[in-house]
Amino acid sequence: MDIFTAIKERRSCRKFLPEPVAEEVIEKILEAAAWAPSPLNLQPWEFIVITNLDLKNKIHAEAIRCKTWALEKSGWNWIGGYKVDFLTSAPVIIAVIGDPKKSGVDMFMEGGATGYQHACAAAIQNMLLAAHSLGLGGIWFTFFDREAMGKALGIHAEKTLIALICLGRPDGEPTAMPRKDVKGKTTYLT
Ligand SMILES: Cc1cc2nc3c(=O)[nH]c(=O)nc-3n(C[C@H](O)[C@H](O)[C@H](O)COP(=O)(O)O)c2cc1C
Repeated sequence: MDIFTAIKERRSCRKFLPEPVAEEVIEKILEAAAWAPSPLNLQPWEFIVITNLDLKNKIHAEAIRCKTWALEKSGWNWIGGYKVDFLTSAPVIIAVIGDPKKSGVDMFMEGGATGYQHACAAAIQNMLLAAHSLGLGGIWFTFFDREAMGKALGIHAEKTLIALICLGRPDGEPTAMPRKDVKGKTTYLT
């Protein structure tokens, strides 16, 4: 698939068919992640591939706990209607974990390390584009309490859970979200 087609056609998918995803396909997606750029080429990412239903249920329960807290805290009504069922129905969830120590020079700056997060984000986009080109849908999920979800997944306290990427064959066509015209967001300094 042409890169521009993949970029434009990829959509966040929140409904999956129960078909399992083949191991070779998961490996291809992880390979795409590993080719992302990173500060000093430190490759600050690690991955956990989750297919176990008990663990998916644990992730789902933790997401619901966070959702309930967020609804109470924010008062944002849309949170009540936001369903996270895809955490149990997605055949695969890939947890993306970042290492703040592999951040490049910004780890010495005030405000702390962020380079590792940017690199993990680049890896995630590669994963989503690769998944799309292989006929899969994916969702970049971050609506969780990092510490509690990290503990539920047994992630070392010195590392950061960046996102959970749910993958699988899409059930239906995900809604296309519009984009603003990029010209209105661009300044040319010549
Ligand atoms: C950093 C980041 C965090 C996101 N977190 C969530 C999330 O927690 N739950 C969710 O349903 N979608 C999440 N999304 C997906 C966005 O909602 C989605 O990309 C956006 O609405 C545009 O839709 P599209 O991906 O179909 O183009 C996230 C996307 C990014 C880049």
